[in-house]
Amino acid sequence: MSGTRRARTLVAGIQSSLGAALALADRLEEQAAALERGGPPATAAAAAGGPGRLAASNGPRDVDASLAQARMIARSGARGFAGASWAAPDWRHGPFGAVPAAAGGVGARFRPGLWQVGQVVIPPDDPGAPYSTVPLAVPLLDGRNLRIETVRARRAAAVDLVRGLLTRILAAVPAGRVRLVVYDPHELGAGLAGFAPLRAAGVASTTITTRARLEERLAELSAEVGRITVERLGGRFDSLREREDAGHGRPEPWLLLVLLGDPRLYEEGARSLSAVAAQGPACGVHVISIVQLAPLQTDPAGADDIDDVTPPVPDADDLRLDEEADSVADPLPNSVVFTAVELLADRPDWRGAQPGLWRTSLTGLLPVQLDPPPPPDLVTAVTKQVADAATREASRPPGIAELLPGALWESDSAAGVTVPVAQGPDGPVRLTFADDTVHALVGGQAGAGKSTLLLDIVYGIAARYAPDQVRFHLLDFKEGLEFAQFAAGPTDPFFLPHADTVGIESDREFGVAVLRAVREQMRRRSVAMRAVGARDLRGLRAGDRSSAWPRVIVVVDEFQVMLTPMDEIAREGVAHLEVLARQGRAYGVHLLLASQTLSGIDALDSTAGKRGSIFGQFALRVALRTSISESRVLLSTANEAAGALGGVGEAIVNRRNGHPAGNELVRVAFPDPVVISRLRDRLATTAARSLPSVPRPRVFVGHAPAILDDNPVYRALDGRPAPVAIESAAAPIGDEPSAAIRAYVPAVALSGAVQPVGDPLALVGVPVDLAPAAVGARLAASPGRHLAVLGPLRREAIGMVQAAAASIAAQLPAGGLVAEIVAAGPTALGAAEILAERMRRAGHPVRVADVTGLRGVLAAAADETRAREDAALAGTGGPPPPLRLVVVFAMDAGRAALEVRDPQSRRTGLDDLRTVTRRGPAMRVHLVGWWRGVSRMVEDLGPVNRDDIAAWAAAGVPGSDLFAMAGHRPVAGGTMPNRAVLFDRHTQSEPRTVVPFAPMVRG
Ligand SMILES: Nc1ncnc2c1ncn2[C@@H]1O[C@H](COP(=O)(O)OP(=O)(O)OP(=O)(O)O)[C@@H](O)[C@H]1O
Ligand SMILES: [Mg+2]
Repeated sequence: MSGTRRARTLVAGIQSSLGAALALADRLEEQAAALERGGPPATAAAAAGGPGRLAASNGPRDVDASLAQARMIARSGARGFAGASWAAPDWRHGPFGAVPAAAGGVGARFRPGLWQVGQVVIPPDDPGAPYSTVPLAVPLLDGRNLRIETVRARRAAAVDLVRGLLTRILAAVPAGRVRLVVYDPHELGAGLAGFAPLRAAGVASTTITTRARLEERLAELSAEVGRITVERLGGRFDSLREREDAGHGRPEPWLLLVLLGDPRLYEEGARSLSAVAAQGPACGVHVISIVQLAPLQTDPAGADDIDDVTPPVPDADDLRLDEEADSVADPLPNSVVFTAVELLADRPDWRGAQPGLWRTSLTGLLPVQLDPPPPPDLVTAVTKQVADAATREASRPPGIAELLPGALWESDSAAGVTVPVAQGPDGPVRLTFADDTVHALVGGQAGAGKSTLLLDIVYGIAARYAPDQVRFHLLDFKEGLEFAQFAAGPTDPFFLPHADTVGIESDREFGVAVLRAVREQMRRRSVAMRAVGARDLRGLRAGDRSSAWPRVIVVVDEFQVMLTPMDEIAREGVAHLEVLARQGRAYGVHLLLASQTLSGIDALDSTAGKRGSIFGQFALRVALRTSISESRVLLSTANEAAGALGGVGEAIVNRRNGHPAGNELVRVAFPDPVVISRLRDRLATTAARSLPSVPRPRVFVGHAPAILDDNPVYRALDGRPAPVAIESAAAPIGDEPSAAIRAYVPAVALSGAVQPVGDPLALVGVPVDLAPAAVGARLAASPGRHLAVLGPLRREAIGMVQAAAASIAAQLPAGGLVAEIVAAGPTALGAAEILAERMRRAGHPVRVADVTGLRGVLAAAADETRAREDAALAGTGGPPPPLRLVVVFAMDAGRAALEVRDPQSRRTGLDDLRTVTRRGPAMRVHLVGWWRGVSRMVEDLGPVNRDDIAAWAAAGVPGSDLFAMAGHRPVAGGTMPNRAVLFDRHTQSEPRTVVPFAPMVRG
């Protein structure tokens, strides 16, 4: 062969041999560059003329240039662990199986290129000169399959090749993103024993050793490839790689089927393997197959090889690169083929080739020398690290960071509210509150992650929508303090600017009151909608710009508590839920209810159809781990999927009323405290900047005492009677936020804009519906205007008496009040002193007496009453006299003294008491008195004079004892510690549950 001809042949060989690798390398590079530029990936056609392409050549210098270029391409196509020699420092440092660092973690992607396996041996031009080499890197992941044809003597080298490849792949691909299935019939698992730890981490499945099992697995894989082709590629993409380049993420891991021996498959099995090999690479499924054959000229001794078959004799064919024709055995579609030269003795071009070399379908006539295998301790190190990382990755919940928006409050809620809260096979999973999925139900057993999901939802929405787009009512009926983080606390001033109400350890009555208020808000919206002819929220928003008309989301954790036991409260709660569920859509009102048990709610079952008429409206369901029976209640009778869920945060999302066909398996994001803390800072800063007057949410803490000094109504008292607006403040819950921001009750009610009336309001506590912020009885100059505190609960009673008297003192100018305080029970003396001190500080004269002074105080008050009556009759009164207040703690303890008749005046203490209660108010003589039992008060007033005290607050008194006092109305509530019931016959139609103000402390 002449020098020139030889050179031409060589270049042609290199050119064609590296053709496939070049094309792929070009395409990958082009795509990577395009992605970095942010543009669409280049097409293969454009890439064909790319930089990696070898120039046409016909001389020795061209050969050198081509070799240099080929080396460069191999190196750039197989970077990092894909190409580094085993001695390279990379292998000492790792980390293996890590997400590529260059991309910065979030959204980082691994994109496979080529994998180095050996060196192409280039014979010298001059026969005496040394051989030169070019690295050989093969396409595998997202590329081809690999078929290695070997003879028995070279089998170990073939397995080494696979071992090296797997080591590179495991080290380079993020842990868990590539899975291995190994078939190893001869060595029964020993062939790749070093990779065994991957099994426990779920990266490799148990090694398959029998043909039957392999056939099963192939059938599954073939179905899997079919599924990916239909579901992921769906006719729009040729491969997962192309789909990923189009921005759809990489939903499926790569899967490598490694066949360490020829399974000699027939029919079905052979067809499955062929199908997997043909279509698998487009779906990230690749086959690596070692086939052991007998060399042509070997003697029949080779027949003891299990895999020994007589290879077909292919036509000698120089430079054709058809691997199917090139393969010495049955071809494997879509493969790069390596053939041990020992199998090519009959080929003229390979006759006499140096044993130990390989022919490959990529390198034409140029033989290939395989790289040495990786050192065993390196394999161990990679395997262990990848197994650990995969285990960590598998147990690591997806974080919420990736689901939060870059900028706050950019979304509009006109069409609905959407929030990503979980990761599914296709990436982020969004929950939507809109016309189709109006309300959502969350279920799951204790500790399954319900409250966590609610937090994801609330924070996610709060990050996306401004406070005028979405308003929350957040109710938590569990002892946990999950929602406390949305209200300002003693240590953290943060509050959620979107929250109207925050209920922590919510009271059942409070919960029902919130629902009632939301229903009232819905009614107001219906009026507004009629006025502008709107039929839904969108229409209202377009037609009436007086408010942003936010969507309202009522979140209730463990809502079943509100509906248990089956009583008046539960009945009212169910009624409200039903209306909100049915009509919420039109008004932009959404329910998000969570519970660990839906099956045992009597209130839903006692009325036929209630369960259906309420939950039929909940198209959106999220089921966390629970029992099969709960799954059937939560989703639908035929849907047991939630019963099979494994870990915390694993969930079924279903947008079809629980129909099994709607199941989506997801993992709920974990609200990482660091990320949440940062979000809270951003929310606080943004709210302070753009909404400085946004009202704080009304906060109800079930067990917390009401503190008079912290109460906004009390704090705003300034020597004038509290304005009437306080009592008439309709439930402020659900006022449209723009209005609510302006009309926040204490701010308006106490702004002074309302003309004060002259009667002080004796505050006793905070109503459980929080509207208004404090309630009591007004001591007007008309009959009945006294306040009785009733019941045996000392703490509650003392607190209410003190609050009533102190608040009266705070509403009158100095000199406008004269007060006498009697501690008829010895233990109340301290409370009387503290109260007196407080009232004196307000500028009023106050005397304190013990039980021995009770007679005298009442006699003096009765005398004063009569004297004022006389003065009024005579018309001699000058300016109105100061209000005279008699405060008695434990009146019933003084009963014996009151019964004694005074020898001079012929009157008893009871006579004086009755004079005061009957005639005092008109003369501005009022009583605030505590009786420890209802009957004792009735006896003191006289049986027919019960109505002389029109207002009372009872703590710890059974409802039956209060029936008559409440004008023959049933009284529920007020029997638990830290609760009381307030009734004022003149102003209230129903008794009202309140949290009584706590007793005052000295100073
Ligand atoms: N998606 C998640 N990823 C990781 N951990 C989670 C996830 N959800 C919940 N957890 C953890 O599981 C525990 C229980 O979660 P959570 O309180 O949300 O459950 P729950 O269903 O509300 O329980 P309970 O019925 O007791 O109220 C918490 O310690 C929480 O950190
Ligand atoms: Mg919970």
